[in-house]
Amino acid sequence: MNAPDGKPDGISGGAAPAGANSLSRRDADAVFHPYTNAIANREDGPLVVTRGDGVYVWDEDGEKYLEGMSGLWCASLGFGEDRLAEAAARQMRELPFYHGFSQKSHPPQIELAERLLALAPVPMAKVFFCNSGSEAADTAVKMIWYLNNALGRPQKKKIISRFKAYHGVTIAAASITGVPVNHAAFDLPLDGFLHTDMPHFYRYGEDGETEEGFATRCADNLNRLIEEEGPDTVAAFFAEPVMGAGGVIVPPATYFEKIQAVLKKHDVLFVADEVICGFGRTGEMWGSQTLGLKPDILTCAKALTSGYLPISAVMVNDRVFDAIAPKTAEVGVFGHGFTYSGHPVPAAVAVETLKIYEEIDLIGRVKERSGTFLARLYGFADHPLIGETMGLGLVGAVEIVADKDTKTPFDPAAAVGPWLVGRAQKRGLILRAMGDRVAFSPPLVISDSEVNDMFDRFADALAETADAAATGGFTGN
Ligand SMILES: Cc1ncc(COP(=O)(O)O)c(C=O)c1O
Repeated sequence: MNAPDGKPDGISGGAAPAGANSLSRRDADAVFHPYTNAIANREDGPLVVTRGDGVYVWDEDGEKYLEGMSGLWCASLGFGEDRLAEAAARQMRELPFYHGFSQKSHPPQIELAERLLALAPVPMAKVFFCNSGSEAADTAVKMIWYLNNALGRPQKKKIISRFKAYHGVTIAAASITGVPVNHAAFDLPLDGFLHTDMPHFYRYGEDGETEEGFATRCADNLNRLIEEEGPDTVAAFFAEPVMGAGGVIVPPATYFEKIQAVLKKHDVLFVADEVICGFGRTGEMWGSQTLGLKPDILTCAKALTSGYLPISAVMVNDRVFDAIAPKTAEVGVFGHGFTYSGHPVPAAVAVETLKIYEEIDLIGRVKERSGTFLARLYGFADHPLIGETMGLGLVGAVEIVADKDTKTPFDPAAAVGPWLVGRAQKRGLILRAMGDRVAFSPPLVISDSEVNDMFDRFADALAETADAAATGGFTGN
C-alpha cells in the first residue's frame, strides 16, 4: 500500500506587512487560526481580506487578488452575488431561526431537501442537514454505526478511507481523513478507522504497470484489507470522487468500478464525499457522475451556498434510511442533530444558489470554460519543474519536482510548493500548495480571460521559482 508523504498542507500565508494598528497586527494579537502556524501568524500576521467581487478579493491595503481557489474550493459564484445576500436578508426577516428537532420544520429546509433529492446522482431517500463538511462526515459515520446496531450486527463498524483523503477535522472526520497533520499530536485516528491506497498513479504506479493494472492493484489491496479485518467488521468506505486537499488526484478510469465491486462483494456501504466535487466542479453536477460512483450516502457542503453561509447535507438512500428509521422509533428519537441543522437562513441561501446554478446553466458553463482551463493547465506539462499536471472540469493541480525524469521531489524542508504560492500571491494570485502540489480551483463563473490571467500570473511565479531552483535559493517569501 502506498503511504502519504507526511508533509503539512502548506497554505502559504504571505503575510501583509503589519503596521501597529493594522488589521493584520490586531489579528496576530487576538486570533487563534485554523490550519496556520501559530507562531508565524503571531509574528507576521495574516493577509487580511476585506472585500470581494467576482473572482477577485482585496486586502486591507487595497491590493487586488484573483482568487484561484474560490477561497477554500467553495465560492463557486465568486465573491459578489447580490441575490444570495438578498435571499439571506429576506429569510432573516421572515423567520431568522427555526429548527428540525421534535418533528418541527420550516419551508427553506423542505424546499432544499426536495431540490437536493431531485438533483442527486443516484436515487436518494432523505436529506439530513448539518453545518460543515466535517459534521456531515461525522453524521454519516454515526448513521452507519446506528444502522448496523439496528440490523443486529454490532461488530460491523470499521470505516475505511484512503491515505491523503480529506474528510474534515471533527473527531470521526479527522479519523477518516488520511493526512498526517490531522492526526499528529491529536491522538488520532480513533481505533477502527483504516486507510488504504490513494489512487495516484504518477506517485504510486509501479515500473511497467499500466493505469488499469494500478487500479486493479488498489482494488485488490482493499479486498485484502477487508478480508484480513473480517468483512463482518467493516461497515463503510469513504471516498471523494476527486481527492481535493490530497493534491487534486483524479483516479484512473476503472478505479471506482473495481473498488465498488469489492464493496458490494463484502456488503460495505459506500459514502461519496462531494464536499469539493459537488455542484459542478468536475464538469457534471456531481463528481459521482463524472467518475461513475453509486454511493449509498452522499455528503456535500461548500458550493451548496457558494460558501456564503455554512450548511452541509447528508443524503441517504432507501437502504440506509429504512434500516435506521425503525430503530429511532424503538429508541424514541434519532439522537443526533445540531441546533443549526437545516438553519433557515443558510437553507434559503442554498435554495437561491441552486436556482442560480439552474438559471445560468452552470454545468454548461463549466464544460465550456474547462476547455481553456485544461489547455492552460496542461500547457505546463513540459515545464522542467513540473512532474505532473492533472485536472478536470475547473479543478486541477501541478506537482513541482526537483528532477522530472526520476520524479524526485524537492527536499520537503525547502517548502517549494508554498514558496511558489507565495510568489503567485505577490503577483496578485491566490493559490494553494499541498506539499509541492499547487492547486487551482477558481470560481465556476470565471471568464476565459480571467482563466488566462490566472495562468499568466502563475507562469511568472513559476519562472521565478525555476530561477530560484537553479540558483539554489528559495528565500524571501
Ligand atoms: C472533501 C472534503 N470533505 C470534508 C471537508 C470538511 O469540510 P469543513 O471544512 O466544512 O468541515 C472538506 C474541507 O475542505 C473537504 O474538502
